[in-house]
Amino acid sequence: MSDRLILGIESSCDETGFGIVRLGPDGSLELLADEVASSVEEHARFGGVVPEVASRAHLEALVPTLRRALDTAAVELSQIHSIAVTAGPGLAGALLVGVSAAKAYAAALGKPLYGVNHLAGHVAADTLQHGPLPQRCLALLVSGGHSQLLLVEGGLANSITEIGSTVDDAAGEAYDKVARLLDLPYPGGPPIDKLAKTGNGCAIAFPRGLTGPRDAKYDFSFSGLKTSVARWVERAERAGEEIPLADVAASFQEAVADVLTAKAIRAAKDLDVDTLVISGGVAANSRLSGLAAERCAEAGIELRVPRPRLCTDNGAMIAALGAHLVAAGAKPSPMDISTVPGLPV
Ligand code: KG4
Ligand code: ZN
Repeated sequence: MSDRLILGIESSCDETGFGIVRLGPDGSLELLADEVASSVEEHARFGGVVPEVASRAHLEALVPTLRRALDTAAVELSQIHSIAVTAGPGLAGALLVGVSAAKAYAAALGKPLYGVNHLAGHVAADTLQHGPLPQRCLALLVSGGHSQLLLVEGGLANSITEIGSTVDDAAGEAYDKVARLLDLPYPGGPPIDKLAKTGNGCAIAFPRGLTGPRDAKYDFSFSGLKTSVARWVERAERAGEEIPLADVAASFQEAVADVLTAKAIRAAKDLDVDTLVISGGVAANSRLSGLAAERCAEAGIELRVPRPRLCTDNGAMIAALGAHLVAAGAKPSPMDISTVPGLPV
């Protein structure tokens, strides 16, 4: 069998992504193009993604971003073998733009269509950099909208089970909210990460959510941590103290990294899994990857963290997931697939 080219389309939030992956006859993946247009700057003044603005931005970016991906990969649309698109979870209007486009291309070109899960896509991103996943692995998915621990068995085309998730805010959401409290720009992860480098992560003992003996073993909670940061800052302001911004950022970041890595490693040990993949926008966090590397080394667990570009939303990860489905001989989706904003993994 010859190479097959898979087009991936992502539009679940504020990034319009088109990726093209070459699937070799041996199942190998080669990334040919990964083009992303982001509307993040349009949302910055609102401190979060505005769904209507995101949908309009997808509509505008769609065709030019696809054009760039085809040019980068030096392929024609007619050479594409299959089209994969994020069907959920995500913003309803934003998903509709990508899924409608994918259906139109698939129908016009007579190509198979695969409606795929965005969360599984984040895990698939890692296979573009580090190759196939082992038979069993654990994935910690941490982004602006999600914080989950997933058990992946038999590859991405088979079984993915959610074993834990956040009960309130996602990890990235906590970063964005705490950044707002500290008057840092949106999205909050990168500026907190940068500021934290000059601070002391042990300066303030912020709470580690859901780590008590009776708490759900693999679930996360970040809203108490965010409130605790707010209270700490308010108290210091009332007392007329200067806020040690770098220490607050570093201590908040330490609490997030501590709880995420501790729970992921506990789950890996309990489930006898020896590979941990961390993906999603928050995987770009320097303290999270640093602490995960230390703790995984101690526990004899192999850690895989894709490069930041692959961690944030993109079309390449959707193309990669589509390629895994094609390689596994999965049935294409019907042409009347719908978007599922609340799609579970
Ligand atoms: O995966 P992503 O691009 O989009 C979603 O699907 O949500 O993740 C975006 C999130 C934002 O909340 C952003 O603040 C966070 O990832 N983020 C970071 C870092 N870079 C991005 N959080 C912590 N540290 C970073 N370096
Ligand atoms: Zn995402």
